[in-house]
Amino acid sequence: MKELKNYLEANRQRFLDELFELLCIPSISADPKYKDDVRQMAEKTAEHLRNVGVEKVEVLPTAGHPIVYGEKMIDPNAPTVLVYGHYDVQPPDPLDLWDNPPFEPVVKKTDLHPDGAIFARGSCDDKGQFFMHVKAFEAMQKHNALPCNVKFMIEGEEEIGSKHLEQFCKENTDKLACDVVLISDTSIIGNDTPSLTVGLRGLAYMEVEVAGPNKDLHSGVYGGAVANPVNVLCDMIASLHDDQKRVTVKGFYDDVEVLSDAERDMLNAAPYDETAYKADLGVKALMGEAGYTTIERVGIRPSLDVNGIWGGYIGEGAKTVLPAKAHAKISMRLVPQQDPKKIEKLFQEHFERLAPAAVQVKVTALHGGHPVVVPTNSVEYQASEKAMEATFGVKPLPQRGGGSIPIVAMFDQVLDARSVLMGFGLDSDSIHSPNEHYGLFNFYKGIETIPYFYQYYAEMKKG
Ligand code: BES
Ligand code: MN
Ligand code: MN
Repeated sequence: MKELKNYLEANRQRFLDELFELLCIPSISADPKYKDDVRQMAEKTAEHLRNVGVEKVEVLPTAGHPIVYGEKMIDPNAPTVLVYGHYDVQPPDPLDLWDNPPFEPVVKKTDLHPDGAIFARGSCDDKGQFFMHVKAFEAMQKHNALPCNVKFMIEGEEEIGSKHLEQFCKENTDKLACDVVLISDTSIIGNDTPSLTVGLRGLAYMEVEVAGPNKDLHSGVYGGAVANPVNVLCDMIASLHDDQKRVTVKGFYDDVEVLSDAERDMLNAAPYDETAYKADLGVKALMGEAGYTTIERVGIRPSLDVNGIWGGYIGEGAKTVLPAKAHAKISMRLVPQQDPKKIEKLFQEHFERLAPAAVQVKVTALHGGHPVVVPTNSVEYQASEKAMEATFGVKPLPQRGGGSIPIVAMFDQVLDARSVLMGFGLDSDSIHSPNEHYGLFNFYKGIETIPYFYQYYAEMKKG
């Protein structure tokens, strides 16, 4: 491990330069305009894997964006680690809120990253994080210190719901056979408070349309007499929470797992500084479901949010119009035992019931995913715990993450493989937001920690 550490030290700048090159490619999966850039990003990722000695590297086409696959089998008796990550990124909009262009990476210091952080779309989510695995592999390979078989599967559709990955996994269960899935696409509590993610929320993402009159109307001639779909949609959305900020969709909480007081106390024992949390977001107060702490609200409680709303005139100046239609995108974050398909149905029924006779509503489900809970008594969890302790000097805390990685529940079912969620970002790194960044400390700490995971995992598997 000493030699590995020296190797990482000696190659710090090169690792960063290589990551910068990847960060320059606008691999925005949601926007068809960037299809060629996404493809180029896949090719570049494959090239990196080949360059560090991964074998059988392929860029596999799907009906959407390609999947990059490669493997290094050292011994049929050694355990196999499947590294999963995503090379696609979220759209960078709104562009004017970035201090530097999103696909021209720069290093700048911040309060939480006094050694500097890489500012670019995808720096933390997930290019900077999956690339740590490529560089950790390089270091192990160079020093003949690879104790496990490794398979890499880096996809290009995570940010749009991993549409084609599920089918790919189902059709390739032998190729993807593994003992554990290793993923760096989550956060730690702080750079001196490492943590491992032991839960992810599920997701049900809906789009709604409220239609009124058969055309846009003069808001003076008709206003007050005809239902305005934007007004109605606002009423309907407002009614989706009660005064305790509980979600009112009928049956929404029916399957929600209730934690014991002891389990809740454990979660709430994690360090959390509400003043700093509010200051980071520039808000004077927080708001959420009554009776729960912030840690609980994002960790063990479901939520419902409008992600976008549109309709009517939004151009310069004033236009007097009563719009014919209004739209919104509404997502629900789910917790164990909620089922995304069931929640979609409950939402649809509820929303249709809410609609007054004066409008017609259409409800469409866009995508979804199951929540995940990672057991902490497993070999893989304990190996990841030891690995982080080795490099951070303190034992990581188990933490439930509020975000979603829909494919993780599928790995459980289709590949019968448990995942280790060993991410190195910070929640304050602005993923999906303008000025996304990833700490240099976090990038290098990740590269340093990953080989320890392989080592401990191989040792503990041997028993
Ligand atoms: N890496 C995130 C998920 C995440 C971030 C989990 C931080 C825990 C902590 C992932 O790329 C993501 O953004 N997922 C989407 C899923 C969706 C697009 C299907 C999400 O959570 O919105
Ligand atoms: Mn991600
Ligand atoms: Mn993301």
